[in-house]
Amino acid sequence: MALSEVKTVCMKSLENARVGKDAGAIQDGKDFYKHMFENYPDLRVYFKGAENYTSSDVQNSERFEKQGQRILLAMHILANTYDDPETFKAYARETVNRHRQFKMDPSLWSAFFAVFLEYLQQKTTVNDAVKNAWKEVGDVFAAECLEHLKNLGLPH
Ligand code: HEM
Repeated sequence: MALSEVKTVCMKSLENARVGKDAGAIQDGKDFYKHMFENYPDLRVYFKGAENYTSSDVQNSERFEKQGQRILLAMHILANTYDDPETFKAYARETVNRHRQFKMDPSLWSAFFAVFLEYLQQKTTVNDAVKNAWKEVGDVFAAECLEHLKNLGLPH
């Protein structure tokens, strides 16, 4: 698939995982963390103070109201810049820089995309084209993240 096709397919798949100020968009964001905390409770360890949060705690949390929008904005940026590799890769490196403090297992940079795809399945029809497009985005993103970690002298 051409870069621009991957971008189009991924952007379309985010139609119900929106960024915005309305209640629907806010809920879309919370729904990501509800899915992640419910199905991958081990990942909660990185979210200080929310290590024991259930999905209903996420639902009622102002912190995750904001964080839900941040992660969806990040995913919109990845999809939207996929046909501009230098911007896309710079954003991947910046994301690693901002997560340095959390000392995440490096394998999570790739594993995240499977979690995200499962979430998307709750929001839209995820066919093979959507799966393949996000797999490609995730692979290129994670490769840049690991390369950056390596250049920083961090575990990769
Ligand atoms: C913030 C963990 C993957 C984008 C955060 C925070 C944590 C975290 C702990 C701070 C939020 C808080 O404590 O309230 C993780 C883990 C990941 C992951 C465990 C993988 C399983 C990603 C990916 C992206 C991303 C792949 C981008 C595509 C963001 C953004 C913020 C954030 C935009 C808001 C803060 C900022 O921009 O510096 N993440 N993250 N995260 N994360 Fe992640």
